Amino acid sequence: MRTAIEQIINDHEHMARLLDFLDFQMSGYREGSERRPQLDIIVDALDYLHQYPDVFHHPLESKLIARLRPRLTKREYRVKFDLIESQHQQMITMTAKLLSGFSAVASGQVMPINLLLANYTLYSNLQREHMALENQFLIPALEDLLTPEDLLLLDNDLKQTPDPLFGAHLWQAYERLYRNMLEWEVQPTV
Ligand SMILES: [Fe+2]
Ligand SMILES: [Fe+2]
Repeated sequence: MRTAIEQIINDHEHMARLLDFLDFQMSGYREGSERRPQLDIIVDALDYLHQYPDVFHHPLESKLIARLRPRLTKREYRVKFDLIESQHQQMITMTAKLLSGFSAVASGQVMPINLLLANYTLYSNLQREHMALENQFLIPALEDLLTPEDLLLLDNDLKQTPDPLFGAHLWQAYERLYRNMLEWEVQPTV
């Protein structure tokens, strides 16, 4: 059984892979690009980010941060954890906005694509900065301060919310996304 810490580390690796692929897809919208972006794949990727990291991954981290706070001795860690928490709120709002924007484009509505792309760039940069911050401060604090009892309490959460894209069972809704991402990883065209 995977522990919550291992799950978070794995999720970060998976999210970084997905962001690389999504960056590639978005680059199809840039001026001069000879490739058309696959809008249905972009919507699937944003939908996944909305359904799993925003619903499970970040809330799990927030739960762990709340548990760790009374045990923290360094002020620096408190400040970093506050920043991580405020980024969680920011990113969850941004994913929802991007998903509704790109879904609107997919359904034929006229949307300011340059604004959507600018928002995506902010989002993807923030996601990467956020993961780097968590890898530097949150993961070591979890490894130092969580007890085996803490980890046992989280087992149920992990069982109840499997990752629908990178987990043991790939959901049908994300099959197309997964297949396209793997194909691109084997043979990136940019
Ligand atoms: Fe997070
Ligand atoms: Fe995270």
